[in-house]
Amino acid sequence: MRNWSGSDLKLRLTLRVAVVSMLCFAAISGYFLVDADRSVRARITAVADVTARTLELQQSKTQWLNNARSDFPNLDGVAASVMAPGLCLAFRNTGGEISQRFCGGAQTDMATPPLAFTALYRRLFDPGREAVRPVVSRGQAIGEAVVWVDPAVLTAEAWHDAGRLMTVLMLALPLLCALVYAALSRALRPTLLIRDGLARIATGDLAARLPPFDLAELSAIGDVFNQLAERLAAALGDRNALTQKLILVQDEERRHLARELHDEFGQSLAAIRALAASARLTAAQDCPPLLAECDGIARTATDMMETLRGALFRLRPPDVDELGLAASLEGLIAGWNSRSRGRQRFEITVAGSFERIPASTAANLYRIVQEALTNAAKHAGATRVTLRLEMREPALAGDGEIVLAIDDDGKPGDPPAKSGMGLLGMRERVAALGGRLSFAARQSGGSSLRVSVPVAAGLEAAPRDRAA
Ligand SMILES: Nc1ncnc2c1ncn2[C@@H]1O[C@H](COP(=O)(O)OP(=O)(O)O)[C@@H](O)[C@H]1O
Ligand SMILES: [Mg+2]
Repeated sequence: MRNWSGSDLKLRLTLRVAVVSMLCFAAISGYFLVDADRSVRARITAVADVTARTLELQQSKTQWLNNARSDFPNLDGVAASVMAPGLCLAFRNTGGEISQRFCGGAQTDMATPPLAFTALYRRLFDPGREAVRPVVSRGQAIGEAVVWVDPAVLTAEAWHDAGRLMTVLMLALPLLCALVYAALSRALRPTLLIRDGLARIATGDLAARLPPFDLAELSAIGDVFNQLAERLAAALGDRNALTQKLILVQDEERRHLARELHDEFGQSLAAIRALAASARLTAAQDCPPLLAECDGIARTATDMMETLRGALFRLRPPDVDELGLAASLEGLIAGWNSRSRGRQRFEITVAGSFERIPASTAANLYRIVQEALTNAAKHAGATRVTLRLEMREPALAGDGEIVLAIDDDGKPGDPPAKSGMGLLGMRERVAALGGRLSFAARQSGGSSLRVSVPVAAGLEAAPRDRAA
């Protein structure tokens, strides 16, 4: 079966209308041919009646006059009054012999029909059939009047009539198709709007709405589309609000945890180190064998403080607002490089000035980079991670753009089935800043993250809010 999935609906419907019209024309032509055949039959039957009655009259006249020199049968009179092209009259006596016959000549201006049409017409209508009426004299049949039409003449006439219908069809069909196509194009024009609306929704433009249409069916589709778009926008709005709340809670929780660790755990470790130092002094005087244990306690406390400092650094970012975004990120990269001890190399390139960007933009970008670097180290096992931070200022006064590109040479693997909280959080932070984010982890290895965030013109006036 033919697959119509790619075909044009207007063309399809027009073709159907053309096929149905042709079938209708064929049916009308058939009806005309049947009707013409029926009227020919009626005519030759009537002519046969007249001929039989005329011959009966002639016969009775001959007998009444006792005319030995009779010219019976005489078909001249009948022939003169009823003769038509192709019509034949004859008298057949009881022995089956034709004793007189008249045939009207065929019309010469008729086109000769094709052989196929002739064969089909003869098969369907049997155009040579005779109309036969008995001629009765004194209650006894003396023969029969026979009337028929030359089949070649009938076939030619039928072909002529069919040809006229065909001409009408040839003229009317293209016109009909053009009208149907134009009407369908007009009626289906709103489908283009529906398609554009769907495409806009697919690209994330949830403000797309459809206008009311004339056609009730399309109007119903438009209403459902608008409702769906509204619900989708509301659902996404709710999700964004929830995620942003989650980010705020997460940031707050991290700050709280960092404070607790610093104030409680950090103080205790400092106390342990102080106690270990004092115990060492005592041990040096009174019990030298304890010196090694005291040193061990001091070393362990120092290591723990180192670890705590790393954790605090991750939990509570440096004051991005005070240090500036570029310096904070350079510090972050330096931290990763020192912790990886040469196994991984983190590089940063900064282009442009970031001194006057809003605090919320700087804090969110810092968190995004922090998550992306953790992902590159944790999920990809990357050996080289590059970060490029660029400020694209417009040539004319207007909105600029901060572009962040992070690439790693991670191991090949399956692309992520679905994003976790990290990527979702990044997206939400970017959405809150009105920017765009794209992330691609290639199956062949390596991944790239692109973030661009608009920065409003006249940054000095921007609020120095602290979101993170
Ligand atoms: N740099 C990367 N290279 C390869 N895969 C990554 C990278 N970053 C993230 N992924 C994939 O994306 C998934 C989602 O990451 P994320 O949202 O940060 O969640 P989480 O880190 O909590 O697993 C990860 O589980 C991982 O499969
Ligand atoms: Mg992650």
